[in-house]
Formats: sequence, structure tokens, C-alpha cells
Amino acid sequence: MRYDPTNNNLRNLIIGAEQKVPLSDGKEVTAINFDNAATTPILYSVLKEINQFAPWYSSVHRGAGYKSKVSSDIYEQGREVVQSFVNSDKEKDIVIFTKNTTESINMLSFILSQQKYHQKVILSTSMEHAANDLPWRDKFKVDYVEIDKQGRLSIEDLEDKLIRYRGSVKLVSVTGASNVTGYLNPIHKIAALAHKYDAKILVDGAQLVPHTTVDMKAFDTVEHIDYLAFSSHKMYAPFGSGVLIGPKDDFMETNPFLQGGGAIRLVTPGRVQWDEPAGKEEAGTPNIMGVVALTAAIKTLQSVGMDTIYKLEKALYDYAISHMKNIPDIKFYSDPFKGDTISVIPFNLLGIHHDILPLILSGEAGIAVRNGFFCTHPYCERLLGLSENDTLQKYEEDDALFPGMVRVSFGFYNNYKEIDRFINIQNIIAEDKEYYLSKYSKVLSLTQINKEVGRCTNRTNFGC
Ligand code: ALA
Repeated sequence: MRYDPTNNNLRNLIIGAEQKVPLSDGKEVTAINFDNAATTPILYSVLKEINQFAPWYSSVHRGAGYKSKVSSDIYEQGREVVQSFVNSDKEKDIVIFTKNTTESINMLSFILSQQKYHQKVILSTSMEHAANDLPWRDKFKVDYVEIDKQGRLSIEDLEDKLIRYRGSVKLVSVTGASNVTGYLNPIHKIAALAHKYDAKILVDGAQLVPHTTVDMKAFDTVEHIDYLAFSSHKMYAPFGSGVLIGPKDDFMETNPFLQGGGAIRLVTPGRVQWDEPAGKEEAGTPNIMGVVALTAAIKTLQSVGMDTIYKLEKALYDYAISHMKNIPDIKFYSDPFKGDTISVIPFNLLGIHHDILPLILSGEAGIAVRNGFFCTHPYCERLLGLSENDTLQKYEEDDALFPGMVRVSFGFYNNYKEIDRFINIQNIIAEDKEYYLSKYSKVLSLTQINKEVGRCTNRTNFGC
């Protein structure tokens, strides 16, 4: 079968795919969203499910009324849908609903920091999003697995570090797919290595789970994924839910990340008896709409087929790369030719600052992309060839245009025609940089530009 994104009707699944947006001259065009790595649009099936459920909406695990029972049942069934989706162990694992991947990883760090074992080292990597770096820093000794010149994870360095810290590594904490370069990490190979040296593995699945099949594999296999975290808003479901999956046993004896109603069995003035996990980790009234949305999205993604989604997005990626590479002055920050990526492309059009290009793309062609460091600062600094000193110095230089890159990221509903518009406008910009630079940077200072696009309002927050 040939995967042709132009001729699929999957676009009909997406709300807002044909939404018009204004250009700088006031004309309107159909918006193009090439920022799916940040947030995906909403599926019709998700809103349909939300509407169907709305009359039954009630308190989860807190009421004796009929609707409360319906809501509680649907919430619990959501855990099963998630488990089947990623093949997690229904007996040994628990699914904890969180608000997003960031909260999931913060929670796991808090839980693991309470374990009495002697393992105090977390092996993170040099390609992690802040969510899979910062939560470990204040509770563990963290070391970072190296990347190679093209930004791929070094499996040799991983093994070296597992040997060097042998017996002390609690967890290898690694992204499944990079939100900057799109590189797919060999998570099962990494799991096998981690287990060989008595460590466990967390996969940050925020950029992986929405784009390809993920299989946590059986507990008794060396490739088993011990913990998995991901977010709904990157898989076509709004309302702020996320997931942490891990062995129930790890959550039995620990204090919960959040404390309050729902997490408790009995409280007296002097004593607290916690509920069992997962409830113990879900203090406060649960986000049932978020879970309804997530389960609806999962069902739709499964009906399309995760392998089909991967192949469609790969076709878009290959098509985009084959044309982008001919744009004058384009610079890629990943190696797009090995085929080990999801559909994320980091680049710059040399001569146009990364803060300006997205404004031009939006103002001239209605195309949405993201720029900066994508909350993945150390990795971007490395890809840009910046030492820590360079970075800090540039940060201090008030008038410096701070470095960064531009990123396009596709979803399964994007198509070749959209990429054609993107290539066309970039060729036009590349041919007359002066004109576009003066049009888009004369009007606005960089600070104003940041306010204008509603992103970061000052440089202390750049690219985050
Ligand atoms: N982490 C998200 C991104 O890469 C927000 O854009």
C-alpha cells in the first residue's frame, strides 16, 4: 500500500482543518498547522463523545447518585482503554491519570525518591525536554547520556554509564522521540540494557505515543518498559489530562505526590490512611472530561491504525525534506536521511532570525510553526554548537538576538499541498530576505514580537 497523505480523507476527522485565518494584508487563507509537536487539534470524535457523555457528567468516586456511578465507571474504563493501547500489564501496572507528561514525571520522581534502596543515580540524556530533566535534579544524582554529532543518543555511552554506576542507577529516563529532532530512540534496546544492569526505564512518551505503536511488553521480558508517561493534548484530545503507567507495587508504600480528598481511606487528627494506588495518586476531583476525551481519541487513533499514522507522517516528512533541502540557505539541525524519526524538522533559514521567520510564515501564508528552544534547552544549545558559556553570555547580552531554531511538526491529517505552500513561501522569502526582514522586524521590536504571538513575553523565558 502506498501512503499518500494528499488522498486520504483522515483530514475530515479534525476540527478546524479548514479554518480560515487572516494574512498581514487582510486576505484570508486556510490555516496550516505545522506545530503538532506542541499541541494537536481536536478530533470530531472527541467532541462527539464529550457531548454524548455531558448529560451524565457528575462527580467521580464521590456520589451515590446514578450519574455519579456512570461517571465513575467511565473513568475507570478509561484506564483499561489506556492499558490496551500501550499493552501495559493489567494485573501488575496501574494507570494514574495526571494533567500531563510533566506532572507524570514529577510524580514519578517524588515517588521513587522515597524508596529506601541505595540506587540514587538517574541516567537522563542530553536530548531531554525539561520535563524529563528538571524533576530529577533536586532529588537524585543525575547524569546525562551523551549524544553524537548529529544529536542521536549514544547507546555506547549509555552502556558505559550503566557500567560506571553499576548498582547505583535507579532509572534510565529517556524520551521515546525527540520534540526537537524527531529522532526515535530504540526504547526496547535501552530497556534491555537498563535491566541488564539492574536499572529500570521510564519512557517520556509525549512525542512517541501519538505517532506510532507503543508496546510496553511483558514484565518478564528484558525489553519491558517499566514506566511510561504521555499527554492527551498531543494526541488530539483537549481538557488537560495525562498518564503515568508503572508497577502498582512501587506506589504502595510511598506518600502521594498530591495530598487531599480521594487519596485517603481514613483520616483522624493524628493519622492518615492512604487509599490504594491509583486512587492514592489522584487527590482532588478527577478530570473526567479529560479522560473521556483521551479514551475517545485513543479509539479513533486505533481505528485509523498507529502503523498507518506512522507511515502517513513519514511520507509527509520525506516529502518535506526532499523539497526543503533545495531552499537556498536552509540549515537542518537533524540528520533527516536515516529514517529513524517522527515527523519533526528543526531548521533555520540563514539570514532570517528564528523569531522572525514564524511571523513571516504566519503573516504571508497562514502557516503556524514554533521556534526557540522548545523547552529542550541543553539539547538545542548542543545542536546549535553553543557551549554553556556561549549560552550564558548571549543571554546576558541585552541587544543580542538570542539563538534558536524553527520547527515544523506534522500530524496525520496534514498533506502535500500544505507542504507545497510552505516550500513556496520559503523560496519566496529566501529570494528577498531584505524585504521580509524589513516588513516584519521594522514594525515590532523582538519583545513586542513575542507579545504579539502570545508566546514568551520576555527573553528570560525564551523558547520555552
Ligand atoms: N513540549 C512541547 C513542544 O515541543 C510543548 O512544543
